[in-house]
Amino acid sequence: MSRELIIVFKKINLNKSWSFHYGELENPPRKTAKKAAALGGVTASLSDEAGPRVSVSAGGNHFLKLIAQGDTEQGLKNLAGTDLSDKLPGNWEKINLPHDWKRNVSYINDPEELMSGSKPDNVGYYRRTFDLSDEQKQNQTILHFEGVMRMADVWLNGIYLGHNNSGYNHFSFDISELAHYGNEGTNVLLVRADTTTGAEGWWYEGAGIYRDVWLEERNLVSLDSDKAYLYTKELTKNTAKLGIELEVDNNSNQVQVIAPKVHLNDLTIAEFPDIEIKPYQSHKFATDVEISNPKLWTPETPNCYHAKFEIKSDQITKNFGIHTFKYTTAGFFLNGKNYQLHGICEHQDFGGVGTALNQDIVDYKVKVMKKMGVNAWRSTHHFASEELLNACDRFGIILIDENRLLESSPWRVDDLEQTVLRDRMHPSIAFWSISNEELIGNTTFGTRIAKKLTRTIRKNDYEHLIIGAELLNPEGIVDSDYIKNLDILGVNYPEAGVMGAGAKLIHQNNPELPMMSTENASYFSTRGIYKDNEELRQCNNFGSYFSMVLPGLRKPGDPGLGGTAHPEEVLSYLKENPYMGGVFLWTGFDYYGEPSPFNWPAISSQFGIADLCGFPKDYYYYYQAHWTKEPMVHVMPSWNKSEITFDQNGKVLVKAFSNVKEIELFINGQSFGKKETQDCQASWTVDFEPGELKVVAYQNDKVVAETKRLTNKTTTKVVANEIFSGKEIDLFELKAIDENGNFVEGVNDQIRLEVDGGKLVNSANGNPINQTVGNSQTVKLFSGKALAIVQKNDVDTVKVEAKMN
Ligand code: GAL
Repeated sequence: MSRELIIVFKKINLNKSWSFHYGELENPPRKTAKKAAALGGVTASLSDEAGPRVSVSAGGNHFLKLIAQGDTEQGLKNLAGTDLSDKLPGNWEKINLPHDWKRNVSYINDPEELMSGSKPDNVGYYRRTFDLSDEQKQNQTILHFEGVMRMADVWLNGIYLGHNNSGYNHFSFDISELAHYGNEGTNVLLVRADTTTGAEGWWYEGAGIYRDVWLEERNLVSLDSDKAYLYTKELTKNTAKLGIELEVDNNSNQVQVIAPKVHLNDLTIAEFPDIEIKPYQSHKFATDVEISNPKLWTPETPNCYHAKFEIKSDQITKNFGIHTFKYTTAGFFLNGKNYQLHGICEHQDFGGVGTALNQDIVDYKVKVMKKMGVNAWRSTHHFASEELLNACDRFGIILIDENRLLESSPWRVDDLEQTVLRDRMHPSIAFWSISNEELIGNTTFGTRIAKKLTRTIRKNDYEHLIIGAELLNPEGIVDSDYIKNLDILGVNYPEAGVMGAGAKLIHQNNPELPMMSTENASYFSTRGIYKDNEELRQCNNFGSYFSMVLPGLRKPGDPGLGGTAHPEEVLSYLKENPYMGGVFLWTGFDYYGEPSPFNWPAISSQFGIADLCGFPKDYYYYYQAHWTKEPMVHVMPSWNKSEITFDQNGKVLVKAFSNVKEIELFINGQSFGKKETQDCQASWTVDFEPGELKVVAYQNDKVVAETKRLTNKTTTKVVANEIFSGKEIDLFELKAIDENGNFVEGVNDQIRLEVDGGKLVNSANGNPINQTVGNSQTVKLFSGKALAIVQKNDVDTVKVEAKMN
């Protein structure tokens, strides 16, 4: 069989078995060598690894001897500057990816690090070996990194491969010639990740190789993965017109006859006629096709097609969705149908694991938000990870994929272009955002840069819409040239009092301009807390008297109380200004860093609608009541005297959220009357009486939902309930219960975990001052709960037992 006929596309995951060194090495590896492939040291094989430290020919050997009195080692040192050390210097730890080294580093009280999560910056080294067979030599070998935080240097086999700047883009190296095959020895891969060079954001960004690493193998005659493109051109009643583009590279030394085919699931939708491609040349193919009865991708029906591009020697499969996008002053239209965007903004971290999220954790996060009724997600303020794109594709979430920084330096433009090329087919992407609140937005300088960025997107992506998430000013001043670059002008916090009438004035002055509300609320609250407490850095869920813009506890009426805006203000602003298209709440989950309105010892934000573990706070149910139909009701506060705020008359405010019109409050069985919900809520002012707080929701006099909160009894046990089971990880909610199995709220007991069938990766509890580091088996509950993240063993069922101390 001739070589070209072998179909090869293999992706080998390199996440396992890395050695990690925290901090700079005593002798950092050099980047340039005086002789090829001769850097040596940690960049090459050590004494206990197969293969030579430096490959030297017979002539080379002779020469080295001549220049160093017969001592080749000395010759290498003198001539090539080779690092001759043959052991790993310092302490190296065995780890698997994804890995965020900052999670295991102690917190520090340094005001300059507060926003970034109060962890020191440093350098980390990752080293791994891998073997390739002789047969693999006939293919192309690509080393692919999904993301390294941050400035990354990469070495292979004694050679400096190159550098990557941003922590938020993927990057690859073609190592076909530089790899070792068969008995040439093992391959030594070294990565240096440096976070000391400056942050890219004002939040916790993590550190190290925090996403997957892959080794890709491709035939010499192959499809260019990024150029394989399928997109929706037009939808009619029962048909979809699709555009197809693809490119074939012939890296072989023979003429190749190529006839690509494209399939959607099992249906062949395009067959190109034979084309001859000369050695080392590429050829582009393009056509339009029409298909009948397409299954459209929508949030309710996230129909993902497998689009397969195929030639004899290669194939590429990508997720694909058939849909069209439009945005006008009437909002967003998917397939011609208007959707109000019920969105959240989200960074990419999670309790305990920091930024080292695998697909399971991303799936869990998306599911928690989907259950609240979210249909849109803004990946703030960076490109969406592969895992997020995949989850949004599958769960039907409309994505704003955000570029970092309004800068057109060649490498930033390149990062944007590579990301657009790779990700443009994901069904979930509807928008590219070029920026967030950049100071140079709406200036002539910013206009030039925006032009370059939007051109870069439009050149490569014919479907999606472009927005910028811009800073508002009370006068509504925008630069007319700047906004011409955008399909939609995004404005952050249009509903916030401190922003004045900015957004409304822009709309008045530009009535035809499509506008979107790209960031909202920034409402801070601490799960399970109904009293402001400065010492413990806690915010009342009813609305805090800490301010976004002024220090300390404030008085009613002061600006910025409780955050940028209360949830009620956000949704009522949208109702009054439907041209805004929807909302993107800041944020879905609490995140590390930016502990506003507090400082040290708070280490995480409290803007989340759910906490760092994904446990909902009270206002989760306010949004759920607005955005979902399944009858639900939620009541607040907790029903323990010491946990609640009383008014001047010694009374307690009880509030319930429900999507049902008629609800009734009971305290210890006594009714406080039925009420009709307004804005999906009703409230009562009552005397506190220990026992049972219960709210019942009725439809046509039938009970359709009910909820209750009980005054604490003694905790008798902490139960571990599996709340999510993924491919690699299970998540357990640890919850204090009393003798009757009822939740005991407000307790912060310390427990000890015993895990069977898996390994505790980490735990979290949502307490904004929880400074636990590492994967200790001892966990403290917060407001009655904590989360255990367990890596499962291959075959076992995971069991977690929580023992009270
Ligand atoms: C916004 C910003 C976010 C976050 C938020 C906090 O202005 O875009 O990244 O800092 O404020 O309220």
